[in-house]
Amino acid sequence: MKTEKANIYTVLAELYDTLMKDVDYEMWADFIDEVIQTHHPDPVDVLELACGTGAISLNLAQLDEYELTATDLSAAMIEKARLKAAQQEVVVDFHTMDFRDIRSEDTYDIIFSVFDSVNYLHSKEEIHKMLDGCRNILNPGGLLIFDFSTPQNSLEAVDYLNNEEGSFGSNRYFRESRYEPGEHFHFNEFEIDKMADDGKTVLESYHEIHKQRIYSLKEMLSILEQTSYHQVAKYEGFDLVEADEKSTRVTMVLRCQKQQ
Ligand SMILES: C[S@@+](CC[C@H](N)C(=O)[O-])C[C@H]1O[C@@H](n2cnc3c(N)ncnc32)[C@H](O)[C@@H]1O
Repeated sequence: MKTEKANIYTVLAELYDTLMKDVDYEMWADFIDEVIQTHHPDPVDVLELACGTGAISLNLAQLDEYELTATDLSAAMIEKARLKAAQQEVVVDFHTMDFRDIRSEDTYDIIFSVFDSVNYLHSKEEIHKMLDGCRNILNPGGLLIFDFSTPQNSLEAVDYLNNEEGSFGSNRYFRESRYEPGEHFHFNEFEIDKMADDGKTVLESYHEIHKQRIYSLKEMLSILEQTSYHQVAKYEGFDLVEADEKSTRVTMVLRCQKQQ
């Protein structure tokens, strides 16, 4: 059986919610809500970038506080997100968008992105594209909130992520994970097999290679210093605790400074 190479988060979209079943998205959405409420007096329009299957925006929608739009590069992930919104009977405007090329007729009080998505930006230039795109569509005083995972996270996570296997429905997956600190890249490679009803015969086999650029806090701060954003806060974990170089995930809060 020939294994087909697939784009990231295409075949994986089928199994994404299974992979993330232990992630407490409700708590994560509460944290994002707390960050927003702490730093913005009166937010209405909120845009999520790289929303995946929509878990954070769907949880925020339950709060009934925001007008939510959520976007992702992967059409397959957005399709899953739309299905979940219909099942949960909440309103989020889901559509595809590449956060390296942000286009919108609408403007927002808050733009956010979570769960390592920014680590899919592989260079300083790509981060600047995302920052510039957000700046163009943020209202004056609006906030950009995003997290990124750090070298400390890769060092701690690589062993338990590597050689992970599991199943979803009648299908199965295998993950290899490796961190290359010299190159600053973390690779997660997924082998995904679609199985016949007998549970033994592989019908189709796919391979997705996920490559993430791992940024230290120092490196990210030096990228952000070259922009006109005002740095409001940097948090570690899911409390309003100041991040430092040892933090495994850092959530940045930036304010868009432009004239009314
Ligand atoms: C680790 S997942 C996180 C998804 C979601 N934020 C969550 O919390 O479950 C990373 C997401 O980034 C998206 N992504 C990767 N590159 C992207 C790009 N250039 N533009 C928009 N989304 C992108 C992927 O499609 C995927 O859904």
